[in-house]
Amino acid sequence: MAKLLMGKEVSARIKAELKAEVEELKKQGINPGLAVIIVGEDPASQVYVRNKELACEACGIYSEKYALPEETTQEELLKLIDTLNKKESISGILVQLPVPKHIDEKTIINAIDPKKDVDAFHPVNVGKIMVGNYDFVPCTPAGVMELIKESGIDVCGKECVIVGRSNIVGKPQAMLLLHQNGTVTICHSKTKNLKEKTKNADILVAAVGIPNFITGDMIKEGAVVIDVGINRLENKKLCGDVEFESAEKVAGAITPVPGGVGPMTIAMLMKNTVKAAVVNQSK
Ligand code: GUN
Repeated sequence: MAKLLMGKEVSARIKAELKAEVEELKKQGINPGLAVIIVGEDPASQVYVRNKELACEACGIYSEKYALPEETTQEELLKLIDTLNKKESISGILVQLPVPKHIDEKTIINAIDPKKDVDAFHPVNVGKIMVGNYDFVPCTPAGVMELIKESGIDVCGKECVIVGRSNIVGKPQAMLLLHQNGTVTICHSKTKNLKEKTKNADILVAAVGIPNFITGDMIKEGAVVIDVGINRLENKKLCGDVEFESAEKVAGAITPVPGGVGPMTIAMLMKNTVKAAVVNQSK
C-alpha cells in the first residue's frame, strides 16, 4: 500500500510556520499584503480565490479581493493592476486565471510588477527560474516539490517524468526537478509510447487535466506519484489525473485528490507573499 502524501497536513504545518514569521515581520514594520483579482463567475475560480483569502487570514496576511464582472474591459483590469503595482500596502498581486476570452492573458501577466508577481508567471520571473536565481517559485510546482520531499525520496539522479507542459505547471516543474539534479522528461499530447515513458519514472507528476488519465499499469513499482489534476466529474465529484484505485496498489507514495497538491499550492502562495514583502522592503 502506498504512503499517502497528505498535502492538507503539510500545508497546515507550513502555514503555521508562516504565521509565526509574519508576526515577527510585523514587529519590524514589514506587513505582507496580497491582492487577488478575479474576473467573471467561474465557480471553480471562485472557490480557489475564497481559499486564498482564508489562507491569508490563517497566516495573518492582509488581503484585498477584487471581484470584477465578466464584462470588465482589458483597459479597466490594466488600470487596477497599475494602481496595485504602486500601492504600498500590497506586496503581492494575483490575477486568477483563466480570464474571460476578450482579455489577453499575456498582456495582463506582463502588466504585473515582477516584484509583486507572487504567481511567478511574468517572463522576468520565468527567466529567473530558468537560470536558477529566483525569489518566487511558481506555487503549484513548489508545492509538488514539498510533497516529493515529504515522500522521503532524494530527487538527485532519479528519473522524473512530467505529463503536461503548461506554463503554470509542466514547464516550471521541469526546472525545479532539474535544479535538484533529477533526470527530467516532459511528456505531452504528442508524446509517442507514453506508457513506456511513465513506467520508467521514479517520480511521476501528472498535470494534464484529464480525469483518471494515468492508470496503475503505467506506473513503476514503488514510484512517487504526484497528481496535480483537479477535475470535476459529471456527478460533481472531484478526481485527479491519476486513477487512484489502481495507482495506489503500485506506487510507493501517492497524493490524494482532493487534499494533496491543491492545499500546497495555496501554502506556497502565502510563502511567496511573505517573500515579496521582504524583497520589496529592501528594493
Ligand atoms: N488558475 C489555476 N491555477 C492558478 C494559479 O496557480 N494562479 C492563478 N493566478 N490562476 C490559476
